[in-house]
Amino acid sequence: MSSEAPEKKTGAAASQPAVVADLQASLQRLDQLANLGRVAANVAHEIKNGLVAINTFMELLLEKSADREMAGVVQRELKRIDNLVTQILRLSAPRTAEVKTVRVHDLLDHSLRLLEHQMKTRLITLKRNYRAPADAVRGDESQLQQAFMNLLLNAVEAMGNNGELAVTTEIITDTDGRRRLKIFIRDTGPGIAPENLSRLFEPFFTTKKNGTGLGLAICQRVVQEHQGSIEVESKDGNGSTFIITLPAE
Ligand SMILES: Nc1ncnc2c1ncn2[C@@H]1O[C@H](COP(=O)(O)OP(=O)(O)OP(=O)(O)O)[C@@H](O)[C@H]1O
Ligand SMILES: [Mg+2]
Repeated sequence: MSSEAPEKKTGAAASQPAVVADLQASLQRLDQLANLGRVAANVAHEIKNGLVAINTFMELLLEKSADREMAGVVQRELKRIDNLVTQILRLSAPRTAEVKTVRVHDLLDHSLRLLEHQMKTRLITLKRNYRAPADAVRGDESQLQQAFMNLLLNAVEAMGNNGELAVTTEIITDTDGRRRLKIFIRDTGPGIAPENLSRLFEPFFTTKKNGTGLGLAICQRVVQEHQGSIEVESKDGNGSTFIITLPAE
């Protein structure tokens, strides 16, 4: 009995500085991340300014140039860099939301139109199933569009050639009586490996050669800022479904 007490004491005394050191290390890391965020936001701004000029000159050059193929490659790459920078800015810089009534079906249609060409060339069929009798939510239209676009793009990218993209909506009523709009984006791609499921929403987590890994992180942040939630259901090898739930207006 007498040997038990000192042992415990030693244990507590030894682990306390370790806990403090851990906490200090975590705080330092948070601080570093915050700094990194600020630096990234500044760099992203500078790059974006440069891109505006490059894009303008590109359009002028395109009018003169006969080499459409090469110009197309340059334009595509420019767009990719522009997207990356926009995403980093969205993630790191404080934004002012423009809140109004948003019609989710219209917004989904608009996002799908932007993907029409890509889906056609890759023989991906679209199944629209807007079951929700009302589709109004309160929120920032361009942020919500970005969230939908990121999910739709992921779905299309996951399928390669031949597949089916299903976009479904429905209204549910919570146990507390609040109405919620659910948006399902389902693909027939390869699905998500179980070990990756918990990491999908981490910034910079990607399994793609040219991915930034920011799409889902942004999507989650936008949805959470709209008092909503996002979930994923996927069986490895058997397609994926991303489900966004938002408060209905
Ligand atoms: N519909 C999907 N089917 C299969 N895997 C998916 C799907 N959506 C996301 N993933 C997985 O989640 C990862 C993270 O997705 P996220 O959108 O955040 O980044 P990314 O698509 O890799 O890059 P970015 O969106 O920046 O171009 C993807 O790399 C992929 O492994
Ligand atoms: Mg993505």
